[in-house]
Amino acid sequence: MIYQIDVVTLFPDIISSALTHGVIGRAKGNGLIELRNWNPRNYAQDKHKTVDDRPYGGGPGMVLKHQPLSAAIKKAKEKQPKTKVILLSPQGTQLKQSSVAEFSKRKGMIIVCGRYEGVDERIIMSEIDEEWSIGDYVLSGGEFAALVLIDSVCRLLPGVLGDNNSANEDSFVDGLLDYPHYTRPDDINGLIVPEILQSGNHEEIRRWRLKQAIGKTWRIRPDLIESIELNEEQKLLLQEYIDEIKKN
Ligand code: ADE
Repeated sequence: MIYQIDVVTLFPDIISSALTHGVIGRAKGNGLIELRNWNPRNYAQDKHKTVDDRPYGGGPGMVLKHQPLSAAIKKAKEKQPKTKVILLSPQGTQLKQSSVAEFSKRKGMIIVCGRYEGVDERIIMSEIDEEWSIGDYVLSGGEFAALVLIDSVCRLLPGVLGDNNSANEDSFVDGLLDYPHYTRPDDINGLIVPEILQSGNHEEIRRWRLKQAIGKTWRIRPDLIESIELNEEQKLLLQEYIDEIKKN
């Protein structure tokens, strides 16, 4: 099945050009993903093709008008009548790997990119099913957030990553950060690849990687450690990691 992505954006080139590269570009070329852009400017009814206006109540910036945005969303919906319409904005629910995984189970997404100071609230009331944010910071528009969403979702679609297992081993899949990776040469100015990784002992390597992942998460993202239940092995490995740090 082809994953359908409709993006409502004033800057379709940002979306299209970014998605011609790498893993996602290949998936598009292979027909695993279909991407369509809808530019509200093409649906503006006045001769200047106006898409924004001053906010009621005053204040800085411009607000995206209801009419052109709503018309563009309706066009996108004609292609995917049953698909949820997502608005990207800092006011949305924060995206996590678990939500990304859920999006990848759907048939597609209709993504609306906000711009300027915001969109007319009545768009949110009448056209938007879900509002999502990629983090607690403000972008000048939703396009880069849309690319983050599209990239993170599409790499989980069947057949998109060459090696079927590589998404299963990602950071956050089990609630932990990733373990460190190394490739040749084994010595770079005295920085040596850990011996275990060169031992060929798969069980020891698995244990070492898990310990590094747990230890790194405990150091850098204690909030993540608190939000998961560590199993007995993981608890033991975390204690070993902490003891090793104390010794050094
Ligand atoms: N648009 C502007 N800032 C954003 C954010 N943090 N997430 C999603 N869309 C946005």
